[in-house]
Amino acid sequence: MNILVLSRNTMLYSTQAIIEAGRKRNHQVKVIDHMLCDIHTGSGASGVYFMNESFNPVHALIPRIGYTATTQGAAVIRQFENRGVFTTLGSDPLLKVRDKFTCLQLLEGQGIQIPKTIFIAHSETIPAMLRHIRPYPVIIKLVSGTQGMGVMLAETEQNAISILEAFHATGEKVMVQQFIGEAKGQDIRAFVINGKVVAAMKRIARPGEFRSNLHRGGTSVSIRLTSAEEETAVRSASSLGLSIAGIDMLQSNDGPLVLEVNASPGLEGIEATTAVNIAREIIVYFEQNITNTSSI
Ligand SMILES: Nc1ncnc2c1ncn2[C@@H]1O[C@H](COP(=O)(O)OP(=O)(O)O)[C@@H](O)[C@H]1O
Ligand SMILES: [Mg+2]
Repeated sequence: MNILVLSRNTMLYSTQAIIEAGRKRNHQVKVIDHMLCDIHTGSGASGVYFMNESFNPVHALIPRIGYTATTQGAAVIRQFENRGVFTTLGSDPLLKVRDKFTCLQLLEGQGIQIPKTIFIAHSETIPAMLRHIRPYPVIIKLVSGTQGMGVMLAETEQNAISILEAFHATGEKVMVQQFIGEAKGQDIRAFVINGKVVAAMKRIARPGEFRSNLHRGGTSVSIRLTSAEEETAVRSASSLGLSIAGIDMLQSNDGPLVLEVNASPGLEGIEATTAVNIAREIIVYFEQNITNTSSI
C-alpha cells in the first residue's frame, strides 16, 4: 500500500518511526511537508500537489500536524478526505482539539470529567470570574499552547488578575483552571489507537516544577491504567472522533480528569518509556481498517 505521511520534518523521531514501521511491513511510505502543499479543489481538479507532484494512488494518510501548522494541515487532510482517502487523523477532529477550551467543552458535553475551567471574555469581569475558581494557586493557560509552554501558575488573586489583564491587552486567548494539587506534579499520558489504550505512562515533574511535560524536564515511567482511567482515555478519543490520540489526565481525588487531548502525539517519549512499538501499532491499525483504496 502507498502511505503518505504529512510531516514538516522527515528527521523527527515520530516521522522516522512511522517510515520505518511502514517499510518493515512492506508499504511504500512517502513524507511530504503539508506547509508546502498546493491544494486544488473544485470539480475535476481536486488534488494535492507537493513540489508539483501529485500522488496516485494514496491508500492511507498519516498526518503529523504540529501546533503552528494546524489550519494548513487540516486543509490538506480535508482535500484527501474529499476523495475518500483513509486518514488516521480527520480534519474536523484536528481543528476541534487544537483549541484547548473547545476540546474541554466537547469533553464536558460527553460527561467526561475535566478540571473546572473558565474562559473570561472581558477584562472588566476578571476579578468577579476569578472568584469562581478557588483555592489559590490557579492555573492560567494559553488556549493553544503545547509542551508545557503557556501553562502558568498564579499564586494569588493579584497575580492572576495582572497575568489575565496582560493577555487580554495583547489579545491572546487564555483560560483559567482549577489547580489540581493532589496530582503532585504528575500526570498520565495514555496513547489510544482505534479505541484501545496501547501504552500509558506517568510523567513526573522535576523538583520545583508543576508541569510534568518531558520537554520541561519531567521523567516518566510505564504504568497500567485503572479501569476508570482507561475508559476515560478511550471515551475522550472516540467522542472527539480521533482514532489516534494522546490523552493527558490528572489523578484527582474525584478520579481521572482530562487536561488535554493531543491529535498528533509524539512517539519518542512513550516508546522509550513503555517499550511499545507504537509506530507499528499505527501501521497495523491502518492495515486492519483500510476499506477504501480510492486515490487522489
Ligand atoms: N489544572 C492543572 N492542575 C495541575 N497541574 C496542571 C494543570 N494543568 C496543567 N498542569 C500541569 O502542566 C502540564 C502541561 O499542561 P497541559 O494542559 O497538558 O499543556 P501542554 O499542552 O502545554 O502540555 C500538565 O502535564 C500538568 O503536569
Ligand atoms: Mg500536555
